[in-house]
Amino acid sequence: MRTDTSLAILASLSGAAAFWRMECRGRVALARLDPLIDPGVPAKHAHAVHGSSGFSASSTYEDLVNADCTSCAVAEDKSVYWAPVVYFKHENGTYQEVLQDGGMLAYYFLNKLGNTKDGIKAFPNDFRMVAGDTNRRNYSVGGSDVKMPDPPKSNWRSMGQTSQADLAQRAIGFNCLNYATDPEPSLYRHYLPEKQFLDDKCKDGVRFELSFPACWNGKDKSSPDHKSHVAYPDQVLNGNCPDGFDVALPGLFFETIWRTQDFVGIPGEFVISNGDVGGFGYHGDFISGWKQEFLQEAVNTCTYSSGRIQDCPIFTILDDNKQRECQIKTPPMIASEKLAGLIGDILPGGVKISYGPEPANHGNPLPNPLPAISSIIDNILPGGVFQEKPTSSSETPTSTSTSQKIKTTPKPSDPPIPKGYELIRTDYVTKGNVVKKIVVIETVTTVMVDTATVTATATRGADKARREVHLHQHQHRHHHGSH
Ligand SMILES: *[C@@H]1O[C@H](CO)[C@@H](O)[C@H](O)[C@H]1NC(C)=O
Ligand SMILES: *[C@@H]1O[C@H](CO)[C@@H](O)[C@H](O)[C@H]1NC(C)=O
Repeated sequence: MRTDTSLAILASLSGAAAFWRMECRGRVALARLDPLIDPGVPAKHAHAVHGSSGFSASSTYEDLVNADCTSCAVAEDKSVYWAPVVYFKHENGTYQEVLQDGGMLAYYFLNKLGNTKDGIKAFPNDFRMVAGDTNRRNYSVGGSDVKMPDPPKSNWRSMGQTSQADLAQRAIGFNCLNYATDPEPSLYRHYLPEKQFLDDKCKDGVRFELSFPACWNGKDKSSPDHKSHVAYPDQVLNGNCPDGFDVALPGLFFETIWRTQDFVGIPGEFVISNGDVGGFGYHGDFISGWKQEFLQEAVNTCTYSSGRIQDCPIFTILDDNKQRECQIKTPPMIASEKLAGLIGDILPGGVKISYGPEPANHGNPLPNPLPAISSIIDNILPGGVFQEKPTSSSETPTSTSTSQKIKTTPKPSDPPIPKGYELIRTDYVTKGNVVKKIVVIETVTTVMVDTATVTATATRGADKARREVHLHQHQHRHHHGSH
């Protein structure tokens, strides 16, 4: 734990001449949803979502802008901001939600960046981006020790520490909160400290920090990996933009606070919902739900150093209660999933902890079996459906436990299993005298993405696990009595 104030000043957010701090007192959802990475299906892991109530598994810009509320403080901001949540794994294996303190803050830094032209440009409508890499499980900047403070920013370039992969790792921070002592600078520590350190030092919890890239290629609203259209300036929040990214955007910076102090003295470990205990895979997502012209006016005129949104005369400020009341409509496909409180011995989505240093196996080896299948059935057959164990009738192949991966040879009448897919399980649903057979098959595609050399086409489908459900209908009669 450091007390060296000269270092603290070096690493602080100096040079942040103008900014505002978007307050999001409420959380529109705690849900396994991610319209960028897993559009249309349950996301691989749980997220805390702030902003527009139009957020869904497949939200469009229109959905966000036309939604009737936002959990953030400015009515004109219908953006969505989301990031993984934190669980505590008790010694007995049970996971418990770690509470989030005070919603989220999304800073908009209006920093002048070198090697850019034409001032700071507002996000275009529907602008999308991701910061961080959910699969990363190590710190690899210049062979440096993650526990050592960063060298001065002005040295990063000469030390060869300004690759985009390096800057992305320095764009993550875990701030040990103890309001009785001097605050740590932002982005000071790039790993989540171990439990004992948190217990001893961080009596007001931990603030997770994430800086988004503010250099833009000036044309794309997104890119296949939601990253390649933007880049970090060479000091993360400040400095010079790389060639090809010569348009400066507002520097977006997320802060969320987690009540790790509620677990002082309790044995166990903190786990981020993507199965990461070290914090290297922390990440966040953003879709702009501003109207571009309005945001441009705010960027041009609300250039105070106070950071207060209340000082910006064009913003309509919503009171805290309004922000807290705003909620999404939870889609049926994840409605039965328990994400709050004590949630049992499996992380949402069946995520397994991966300790690294090698990358996580895309963070989600198996779907969370029961909620996933029951919700799929809900979706396919709304109303009045019940699940029935198959009988030993000769027409129904033997069923096995749904919580295990099973290999069965499909009957000839089953749809063929496409190459590269694996049969996961077979389920039956009975309605009237029709038995529906559901064959769940799965393929897992893992594509390693090197953020320094990535090209747009090479990353389509990156970080994606696809699950397909084939519905196959058998019509056969139940035998009632004898002929
Ligand atoms: C595990 O321990 C926690 C904390 O003591 C407790 O709340 C939870 O019920 C336990 N779970 C099981 C399955 O015993
Ligand atoms: C560290 O993480 C990177 C990015 O996930 C990965 O490419 C590299 O192989 C990891 N290093 C080790 C030693 O596993």
